[in-house]
Amino acid sequence: MTKILGIETSCDETSVAIVKNGVDVLSNVVKTQLVHSKFGGVVPDLSSREHVNFILDVARESLRKSNLEIKDIDAVSVVNGPGLVGSLMVGVSFAEGICIRFGKKLITTDHIVGHIYGNVLTYKKISLPMLSLVVSGGHTSIFFVNKDFEIKTLGKTKDDAAGEAFDKCAKILNLGYPGGPLIEKFSKNGDEKFYRFPVSRLEGYDFSFSGLKTSVLYYKRKMGEEFVKENISNIAASIQKAIVEQLLSVFEKCFEDNKNNIKSVSIAGGVSANGYFREKFKKLFENRVDNIYIPSMEFCTDNAALTAGLAYLKYKKNIFSELGVKVFSRS
Ligand code: KG4
Ligand code: ZN
Repeated sequence: MTKILGIETSCDETSVAIVKNGVDVLSNVVKTQLVHSKFGGVVPDLSSREHVNFILDVARESLRKSNLEIKDIDAVSVVNGPGLVGSLMVGVSFAEGICIRFGKKLITTDHIVGHIYGNVLTYKKISLPMLSLVVSGGHTSIFFVNKDFEIKTLGKTKDDAAGEAFDKCAKILNLGYPGGPLIEKFSKNGDEKFYRFPVSRLEGYDFSFSGLKTSVLYYKRKMGEEFVKENISNIAASIQKAIVEQLLSVFEKCFEDNKNNIKSVSIAGGVSANGYFREKFKKLFENRVDNIYIPSMEFCTDNAALTAGLAYLKYKKNIFSELGVKVFSRS
């Protein structure tokens, strides 16, 4: 029985989880920082400060919920990138502090691979190789995941991530932050065919979302605040459709070219919490691939069970980190 305590502080969620044998989530405490909402996006300095404020209580709560004490933990894992450097440093310092004080082994994990691992936490066992569409606030990429859970990038965004596009469009529409869940909420009663926002189509398997944000801005200027307010549901639904349409068309192209080498497809990352996206993805691949994986809501957005689960793969291979871990902002 291997119990790993995982720490996630890469962006605006302070989270500590305990996962047994890479799949059984004993606790997964997530504290979302609310200070950023009035700024329409995450403010890095505030994020680091909030992590410092929250991390000890979140860790204590995680141990309490799992009915474990620190002596019962076999190793500590921490996300060391990609993410906000100052925020990552808080998590890494905290993890190293535990390792020094209690003599634990340290494992580092990648935030993006963690998101993909959300599918393992959801389904316990998954068929690999897999093609995975990772869509978050910082990333929009297609990965080939091999049998050892190693990843190779097949395509990625050239500018904004899809989650960022949701957030920026929501900001233009004065909906608030984070924009993804708000655009989804307003879309519920809207007509997605109300307005056709442009959908970029790039060569290969790359994405681009910056044009969408600009066109939403111009649309608002042209139609006026009042019109936007009155038609907010239709506009939100039209934006959601444009984002999901691009995600699916690029991924489908990649799938067609790689389908003989894979056993499954999956989505991952914060945007995969979007109900419209989940439904469309499932429909698109029904009867076209043996396994379709869609992470449960709990494992879509940032949470520490992703690192605590993923770290087990390194634990089994005796791969540990020395103290003095470096953090990185981009993959
Ligand atoms: O993975 P995540 O929690 O953090 C990053 O690693 O970036 O993803 C956060 C992103 C935000 O941009 C947020 O607006 C988006 O995921 N998101 C959603 C939904 N829930 C979160 N986007 C669309 N629909 C949602 N329901
Ligand atoms: Zn994330």
